[in-house]
Amino acid sequence: MTESPNKSHGRKAIRPTLKPRELMTATPDLVGVWKAKILTLFPSAFPGVLGESLTGKALQEGLWQLETIDLRQFGLTKHRNVDDTPAGGGAGMVLRPDVLGNAIEHAMEGVTSNHPLIYLTPRGKPMDQAMMQNLARADGVTLLCGRFEGVDERVLEHYNIQEVSLGDFVMTGGELAAQAMIDATVRLIPGVLGNQASAEEESFSSGLLEHPQYTRPAEWKERKIPDVLMSGHHGNVAKWRHQMSEEITQERRPDLWEEYCRKKDEKR
Ligand SMILES: C[S@@+](CC[C@H](N)C(=O)[O-])C[C@H]1O[C@@H](n2cnc3c(N)ncnc32)[C@H](O)[C@@H]1O
Repeated sequence: MTESPNKSHGRKAIRPTLKPRELMTATPDLVGVWKAKILTLFPSAFPGVLGESLTGKALQEGLWQLETIDLRQFGLTKHRNVDDTPAGGGAGMVLRPDVLGNAIEHAMEGVTSNHPLIYLTPRGKPMDQAMMQNLARADGVTLLCGRFEGVDERVLEHYNIQEVSLGDFVMTGGELAAQAMIDATVRLIPGVLGNQASAEEESFSSGLLEHPQYTRPAEWKERKIPDVLMSGHHGNVAKWRHQMSEEITQERRPDLWEEYCRKKDEKR
């Protein structure tokens, strides 16, 4: 009997579900350096904007580190399926709990107890500066970026995952929310901003929105920089800035203003 041609010749072999080499991070782990681990179907979306300017320079200098974990690597069958139709019917697809579970367990291996696991979702707690300050004080964070209709609820329950939102709108995926969160956190890590004072003075740090900023030219389209800022009197400048911060906060964010007044009263 003549041997039939090998049918698999020229075709890609079925890959096992987990390939340790592919799961390995491209960069070595820097012990004691704040680390963001991102579970995503689009690892090439990172570092994205985080690779630019101060966050990019700090990443290169090893002031923080980034690892992407491709959810597709944990997919099932030769097609690496990661999603399935929603139980009970309805539009779209849902990320499977078994796939996500394997990916999450891989990501969380060896992390300290001070390394939160967060799912980015419009259902979550809205991001704010206090949240970023807490994250910057942690050893790092693992962020799960959803796609399609989101993730199977059981994963969130089983791993007790915190849910965080970028705002009251729906995006196609969690990657932009993850980058916003990392950007806002990383710039609070000592050494990342050239001038640490600027992080302490800007919006939200004191519970108020920031005062207006100006720079040269002193006059532009018949609009002048307020005289007090040109006076060279540091005391008056500080007083004016504080007053403007209060006015702007009161006008634009009554919620922040109320909280600010409450804390001020408590201190008295
Ligand atoms: C199309 S959305 C899913 C929306 C979900 N069906 C709902 O109504 O809440 C796909 C993914 O984008 C991400 N996403 C969308 N909007 C977001 C937001 N405002 N904040 C954080 N993540 C968001 C989440 O990871 C989500 O799983």
